[in-house]
Amino acid sequence: MKKILIATEKPFAPVAVQGIKEVVEAAGYELALLEKYTEKKELLDAVADADALIVRSDKVDAEVLDAAKQLKIVVRAGAGYDNIDLAAATAHNVVAMNTPGQNANAVAELVMGLLVYAVRNFYNGKAGTELLGKKLGILAFGNVGRNVARIAKGFGMDILAFDAYCPAEAIEAAGVKAVGSTAELFEQSDIVSLHIPATPETKQSINGELVGKLPKGGILINTARKEVIDEASLLKLMEERTDLKYIADIKPDADAEFAEKFADRYFATPKKMGAQTAEANINAGLAAAHQIVGFFKEGITKFQVNK
Ligand code: 3PG
Repeated sequence: MKKILIATEKPFAPVAVQGIKEVVEAAGYELALLEKYTEKKELLDAVADADALIVRSDKVDAEVLDAAKQLKIVVRAGAGYDNIDLAAATAHNVVAMNTPGQNANAVAELVMGLLVYAVRNFYNGKAGTELLGKKLGILAFGNVGRNVARIAKGFGMDILAFDAYCPAEAIEAAGVKAVGSTAELFEQSDIVSLHIPATPETKQSINGELVGKLPKGGILINTARKEVIDEASLLKLMEERTDLKYIADIKPDADAEFAEKFADRYFATPKKMGAQTAEANINAGLAAAHQIVGFFKEGITKFQVNK
């Protein structure tokens, strides 16, 4: 009997695990669960006899793939797959997939929640500002960026976007103003929300020079990946520009320094919370389970990312 392992350092909501179990068992497979593990050894032991693996931001590197002697497929239940060593997966004949779009609304709702928190001065009692009429720049117009635009329209914000891989016409078709570059987006927005993946091209690409293009009172919000920020230059910029705020759903490596220096202009969630809703867990978890069943039973590789 095939064994499907869910290995999640940050667990899914129980209702999602139950749903995955039902899909897996209906296909005649067995579900194993490794949650809240703290040592890599626990993951290495658990994957030893797994045929398929469902993870979130859990690291799947060459060592994990070496230990997973029977593994045929790993599905990242979520969008970003920078936690999976794709070359190593290919070398081990393991298909890697993601579940794009399934948790996008959850992340987008958190963006708006964090923005309200930021413009109201972290609810410290002092008068803040409103989002109505402010310019929101969305960097990368994928599933999350599109959902942010949809919700931000309800707040009455003016929405701009730039995406190096999405034509301006597609952005404009969604009722959003397309700008010509990342630099233009920062120049023209009051708030910039990051939705780029962490790739060799994007890592450390958001630096002090770019963020410094924001007008007075500008806000940078990052619900994407900490790796896309050049932290040293952002720290330096925020020392010079005492009007800027940085809001993150993924703690920067220099979290302590940001928190100490900019207590009233910096906030990071204690744990990545963007996709942490029952709905997103169900959507992404069930999609992962269905993709595994579709792969084993029919050879479907639609969402493979290591082709
Ligand atoms: C994603 O890439 O899907 C999001 O960052 C969510 O990540 P998580 O599953 O670790 O919460």
